[in-house]
Amino acid sequence: MANVAVIGAQWGDEGKGKVVDWLASRADIVVRFQGGHNAGHTLVVGGQTYKLSLLPSGLVRGKLGIIGNGVVIDPDALLAEIEKVRAQGLSVGPETLRIAENAPLILPLHGALDRAREGARGDRKIGTTGRGIGPAYEDKVARRAIRVCDLAEPETLSDKLDELLLHHNTLLRGLGAPTFEKRELLDKLLALAPKILPFAEPVWERLDSARKAGKRILFEGAQAVMLDVDHGTYPFVTSSNTVAATASAGSGMGISGVNFVLGIAKAYCTRVGSGPFPTELHDEVGLGLGDRGHEFGTVTGRRRRCGWFDATLVRQAVKVGGIQGLALTKLDVLDGMKEIKVGVGYRIHGETFRRLPAGLRAQAAAEPIFETLEGWSESTRGAKSWADLPAAAVKYVRRIEELIEAPVTLLSTSPERDDTILVRDPFED
Ligand code: GDP
Ligand code: IMO
Ligand code: MG
Repeated sequence: MANVAVIGAQWGDEGKGKVVDWLASRADIVVRFQGGHNAGHTLVVGGQTYKLSLLPSGLVRGKLGIIGNGVVIDPDALLAEIEKVRAQGLSVGPETLRIAENAPLILPLHGALDRAREGARGDRKIGTTGRGIGPAYEDKVARRAIRVCDLAEPETLSDKLDELLLHHNTLLRGLGAPTFEKRELLDKLLALAPKILPFAEPVWERLDSARKAGKRILFEGAQAVMLDVDHGTYPFVTSSNTVAATASAGSGMGISGVNFVLGIAKAYCTRVGSGPFPTELHDEVGLGLGDRGHEFGTVTGRRRRCGWFDATLVRQAVKVGGIQGLALTKLDVLDGMKEIKVGVGYRIHGETFRRLPAGLRAQAAAEPIFETLEGWSESTRGAKSWADLPAAAVKYVRRIEELIEAPVTLLSTSPERDDTILVRDPFED
């Protein structure tokens, strides 16, 4: 028996949703532990597409979903998403979804501040999803967040809103954005309370019992290591820790509760929003990857930036993220390419690096050092076994393993749930 955490190893959108859905068939519980509705996880099951932002992907498999305390929850977005997936035939209620009572809430003022600040940054914007994620985490750390449990205490809500509005209205006014009224927010929260509270509980207790009972728990990461607030390409990151260690703090499960960490990476690389991307392609090769990989943001709808697989970066993500095995997705998108490049290091101001330095200027100046590998003309799309892959594709995967210093334990060859090649079952570790 082993519990597994799944985390992104690049800049997000690696196919975590598909992999979590696939692994969920072997799990009893699926837990989200950080991020919020900035995530966009796509699952394709027999022609039906599910796009989830806040709900744990295991719900599509009928598995118990838990939203941990490390997640920032926008109650409107949560209720809207529940309605959306119910309309697709999924059953979501307090029996299938539990929410940590100590999770902080995202309120309309967080989104307003996020967007006003991005607007004020102009060319230097981060390219956030505008959903209030950063401001909500700031309030949590500043100890003024309204949390799920506060919905049960009208007086607490009232007191907390005074402090919250003093802070936010001052900022919004300074940015020339509309301010918020206490009465309106209080009424809104009081109306939301009976809809949200039936889902709320101390989830750490449930996780503790599940663990004692030998249940398998799958931790579903959002975003990715290069968007981690400490280890990513700061400040072009999200506002939470995305590394596997967060599964523990973000759910209330002890640190020994995660036994295997599966990193997810595409066979190439993409990024949404601003920030360094050394192996980015600005030519028709990059556009081709984007077209074949349908690289449009689930949340933002924006075209994703595309480039070659950056082994230097994924190796770094393996180390700091605690990744023990890698799931390599979207191998099929490389089908038909004559040659494929892989980033194996950087040249920065005449010096060679095998890691991405932390400094902003150094990151911006990083010139990738490429190794060129042979492509393949055969189709790998839908391949379900190692034997179905052309020799050049196998060679590509093997070279990646060497460079990132971790084994590829899973391969994905289409958006469909079952088009997956399992090399090693992470739950059996
Ligand atoms: P996530 O944020 O990591 O869950 O990834 P997204 O869902 O945002 O983006 C991944 C996209 O790639 C989705 O549209 C998936 O349906 C799709 N996808 C996942 N795995 C594969 C694969 O192996 N091949 C192809 N062609 N598409 C895939
Ligand atoms: P999934 O889970 C890709 C990016 C945004 C922006 C930066 C900060 O689907 O992989 P934020 O709104 O979080 O303050 O934005 O992070 N970003 C993502 N990029 N996939 C995601 O999630 C992302 N979540 C946030 O584009 O650059
Ligand atoms: Mg996504």
